[in-house]
Amino acid sequence: MLKIRLAQEKAKGKDFDEIWRIFKKIIAAGDSYVNSSETNKSKARAKWMNKEAKTFIAENDGKILGAYLLKSNQVGRGSHIANASYITDEAARKQGIGKALALHSIAKAKELGFHAIQFNFVVSTNIPAVKLWQSVGFKIIGTTPKAFNHKDLGYVDSYIMFREL
Ligand SMILES: CC(C)(COP(=O)(O)OP(=O)(O)OC[C@H]1O[C@@H](n2cnc3c(N)ncnc32)[C@H](O)[C@@H]1OP(=O)(O)O)[C@@H](O)C(=O)NCCC(=O)NCCS
Repeated sequence: MLKIRLAQEKAKGKDFDEIWRIFKKIIAAGDSYVNSSETNKSKARAKWMNKEAKTFIAENDGKILGAYLLKSNQVGRGSHIANASYITDEAARKQGIGKALALHSIAKAKELGFHAIQFNFVVSTNIPAVKLWQSVGFKIIGTTPKAFNHKDLGYVDSYIMFREL
């Protein structure tokens, strides 16, 4: 059964090792995250195990299959809006893990007192992500023209997506 729990820094960063295993393949694909394929493990750790963020992992029978991180979108007077990033292991896609993480993050963000969640950079050609966010209530509220240098398609638009809590 799928279990979603906080990622642990202990156990010599075993949870992060699994996040890195998943994330490095995603950034190498060059079609969803702005992080370039030169992003190394320590830069990825700074993003995923950041003290300012809460990182959750989805595991099934002890195998880590996905993760999300939740943080404030801005500091101070912008800190009541959350921001989040999500990944599902390539081998475990289309099995509901992304949706389970999305719903978990919405509930968690509410619990933490955020008023809304904003995604600043959803690549317009990333159909699985756009469809997933729309299916859990996010709307496209803006487009940044040609903001993403897609590995195969070149410059494509990115969306700002938003959901009130
Ligand atoms: C986006 C991502 C997290 C989705 O994870 P997932 O575990 O495969 O998603 P789910 O199986 O929960 O799918 C949930 C919904 O998303 C949409 N979806 C997922 N994959 C899809 C695909 N290949 N084509 C169209 N819609 C898709 C559907 O609406 C789906 O609901 P349905 O199964 O009822 O049709 C995953 O594809 C991923 O990690 N991609 C690379 C990183 C990334 O893009 N992260 C998000 C950045 S904004």
